[in-house]
Amino acid sequence: MQSQHSAAAANSALRKQLDKRLSDNSLRSLRISSSDGIDLCSNDYLGFARSGELAALIESQSVSDEHRLNGSTGSRLLTGNSVLAEDLEKFISNYHKAESGLIFNSGYDANVGLFSCIARRNDTILYDELSHASIIDGIRLSYSNSFKFRHNDTEHLEELLRKAVGTVYVAVESVYSMDGDLAPLKEIVELCKKYNAALIVDEAHATGVFGKEGEGRVVELGIEKDVFARMYTFGKAIGCHGAIVLGSDVLKQYLVNFSRPFIYSTALPPQSLLAVKCAYEFLKKNSCRIDELKNNIHFFNEQVKKIKKVKLIDSSSAIQCVVINGNEQVKRAAETIQASGYNVKAILSPTVAGGSERLRICLHSFNSKEEITGLLRIIESLIPSPAKINR
Ligand SMILES: Cc1ncc(COP(=O)(O)O)c(C=O)c1O
Repeated sequence: MQSQHSAAAANSALRKQLDKRLSDNSLRSLRISSSDGIDLCSNDYLGFARSGELAALIESQSVSDEHRLNGSTGSRLLTGNSVLAEDLEKFISNYHKAESGLIFNSGYDANVGLFSCIARRNDTILYDELSHASIIDGIRLSYSNSFKFRHNDTEHLEELLRKAVGTVYVAVESVYSMDGDLAPLKEIVELCKKYNAALIVDEAHATGVFGKEGEGRVVELGIEKDVFARMYTFGKAIGCHGAIVLGSDVLKQYLVNFSRPFIYSTALPPQSLLAVKCAYEFLKKNSCRIDELKNNIHFFNEQVKKIKKVKLIDSSSAIQCVVINGNEQVKRAAETIQASGYNVKAILSPTVAGGSERLRICLHSFNSKEEITGLLRIIESLIPSPAKINR
């Protein structure tokens, strides 16, 4: 009786929070996304997740005895390690020109696993205010001092660097997930050198998109030696699942010893590792898809310039955002676009700051020019006057 009563009270407390979301127009709910029309919202930038050719490649390799387990059976430190996992770490480290790598079960896990353990009580982490939730959650779990700097504002970062104590880490994303804009990595590298800080770069949305063979922005800029740690996800352009943290052998050994999401979780199953290996090989052979994606990004940017009313966040990545002020307004705009057969999502506050609610458009290698112009035509018809970005 007592426990029934407690459960009812707990559910009622939860209901109150959900009602608040409902009244703010920010209630999230799950939908099945298979028949949602033209894909202009997924992270499958190169079409790998839906590629029959890649699926056949994975299938052809998965018959070997070594890969027959359905699950990994445990944490990597107990029974879950394999030659497959170790070889894949070496292969991906080479691909991105890093000394060493450690695979995590997701990009979220990788960031939490990295940020929660690298900085200790008297150290400092400085991070961009638009950092992904996984970076922020990892920092929260650490005992370090942490301060955020204004988005892409290197002067503000320098101000904080001057005051920072202990071992100092700077965290940025090479491509920001909600805005699609790029971090000024070269300037940030210089600042890190000047103040002896260790730079950490989340390459989630640059993997498969930047660099000749999709190696990301760090390799594209040739700054791999200046970056302490990098995080690459396999769930976006790679079209699979999981992630890797790249850095020195020492960093890898440290994470194996101190990173709790790595230590206390069952490792990825062999099928997942095999799929990632095949996807990376596929990426190397299909760099034409990166060119097709770049082409579409360029085309989108050229076309959107012709529409004076649209307020676009400046971006040369696959993520393009049209700002429409207000949850209700942006939701309605997304619904109209979806009803016309284009799958574009509204990003609401509090996920982004109030006043900068947006349509988040993800471009892909497989989108046609007609799809892009068709989408822009609808957007043009929806936006009455320029919206302002409030940060
Ligand atoms: C910048 C960034 N980092 C990390 C993640 C988490 O990656 P995953 O989806 O593999 O957990 C995401 C995913 O949205 C992201 O956008």
